Amino acid sequence: MEVIERREAFRDACDDARLAGKTVGFVPTMGFLHAGHESLLRRARVENEVAAMSIFVNPLQFGPAEDLTSYPRDLERDLAIAKGQGVDLVFAPSEAEMFPARPEVTVDPGPIGDRLEGASRPGHFRGVCTIVARLFGLVGPCRAYFGEKDAQQLAVIRRMVDDLAMPVVVVGCETIREEDGLALSSRNTYLSDEERVAARCLSRALAAAARLGEDGERAAAVLEAEMARRIGAEPLAAIDYAAVVDDRTFERAATLEGPARALVAARVGSTRLIDNLRLPGASR
Ligand code: PAJ
Repeated sequence: MEVIERREAFRDACDDARLAGKTVGFVPTMGFLHAGHESLLRRARVENEVAAMSIFVNPLQFGPAEDLTSYPRDLERDLAIAKGQGVDLVFAPSEAEMFPARPEVTVDPGPIGDRLEGASRPGHFRGVCTIVARLFGLVGPCRAYFGEKDAQQLAVIRRMVDDLAMPVVVVGCETIREEDGLALSSRNTYLSDEERVAARCLSRALAAAARLGEDGERAAAVLEAEMARRIGAEPLAAIDYAAVVDDRTFERAATLEGPARALVAARVGSTRLIDNLRLPGASR
């Protein structure tokens, strides 16, 4: 496994792989790897001759009051996990290497980027799109792996790749969960024992919405109210949103007809958590 800190060296390594006729699978991350990241790495490993990843906590996607400085980091541990997953290339640049200057040209994520997470975290998806576009610019043609855990991010990236004709095939990967349903996240490490138990309310609210859908409820407002009620019943949780959207546009859906997704965001203690679930019965 090669650990690369320089942009040009990473570009050269990816170019060399393609020149040798190999496909490149790329997994962008912010590190502090867990089983969710590992599932992406495994898939990139299996589906490509060369598996590449990046580890970089991207300052552009954090708001001024967010957790950029406290975001968990452990490069040694991450490298051991990457090696265990058979990763060939790890790009782990410093901030000065990734952004010698703050970029003046950035990627506008469009209307999907203004909703839900975009409304709660202004500038977040612009920051995500800008770093991902920059990483894609270094990697070149590849398959790139993203988790459904961040479903809105996945939708924004798919749209960016499509609209800007980037030579990348975006692969969405299912959410990996703890046994009690909590979606794995690097931010789960912030939770106290009590908060960890309370955090179950997010996945449980989504499961309750899915059950309503299975039982034939078609009104999005009914599902949203049920999710809000369940999260509201947890004293340690403060809801940000509970929404049912069209799975492609992320526009609020009034009724469940086409592909739909339920999404929730809540603060548990001081930790902001998000989760989502594709709703059953909705056709692709
Ligand atoms: P990060 O939060 O480190 O996540 C990296 C990738 O892992 C993302 O595609 C995310 O959706 C996926 N992931 C996280 N938790 C998961 C889980 N429980 N199951 C499956 N996949 C999961 O997302 C980012 O970093 C950044 O925004 C990034 C794309 C790297 C740009 O900076």
